[in-house]
Amino acid sequence: MNAERFLKQLPALFEDFPVSEHPDDRRFAPIAEEIENLARENNFALLNLAASCLDPGEAYVEVGVFHGASLIAAMLGNQSNRFVGIDSFDFRDASLETVEQNLDRFGLSRPELLVGDVFELAREGKLDDVVVGAWYYDALHAYEAQLEGLRIAEPFLAPGALLIVDDTDWEQVGRAMDAYLAGQPRARRILTIEGKERGYPQWWEGMQVLEWRP
Ligand SMILES: C[S@@+](CC[C@H](N)C(=O)[O-])C[C@H]1O[C@@H](n2cnc3c(N)ncnc32)[C@H](O)[C@@H]1O
Repeated sequence: MNAERFLKQLPALFEDFPVSEHPDDRRFAPIAEEIENLARENNFALLNLAASCLDPGEAYVEVGVFHGASLIAAMLGNQSNRFVGIDSFDFRDASLETVEQNLDRFGLSRPELLVGDVFELAREGKLDDVVVGAWYYDALHAYEAQLEGLRIAEPFLAPGALLIVDDTDWEQVGRAMDAYLAGQPRARRILTIEGKERGYPQWWEGMQVLEWRP
């Protein structure tokens, strides 16, 4: 993963980063409008850029697919890369069938979709063949789950991998990010973007990006 390229290119996607209401390129607008989601166009642009910065053989892994909006946004234009989506589908009316229909609607072929609890799937070895270049954790954001949602990724991370988390405005998420960094010298925070609690609703509830250092 080329974290430096990611950081350099992100502001260039916006007229006035991070203030802009949307990225210059509006291709994520239909996703935001047509698929129920918990994000904004800006978050989608960031994920798409991360997926475009993967090195050969690396995968974008998303924990918390819901109806597929963020995964579809990450995949647009990056389909030669490997994508793995993980969801237990026990939130609202989320289902694998809906994700598949939404992938069809946006003309995308099926990525690898693992159905179940991410912590169990990882323990069972379902991620053992995945070299993670970008790990997007958007599942349960309770303090312990958030912390563990970063820790379980560690055995699979490529040098320079990005750990991307949203809803980082939330007190317990911010605290979990700080605790994770305090206990893991191989990770460093390379980006914090504030969200609606802090005056930037165009970034949903905020995002942070960590880099996994070789
Ligand atoms: C906030 S939604 C994801 C939103 C999606 N990324 C988007 O932008 O539209 C959180 C999802 O995480 C899933 N989830 C929560 N805990 C999980 C776990 N332990 N393992 C797998 N999926 C989980 C839920 O089923 C839910 O669909």
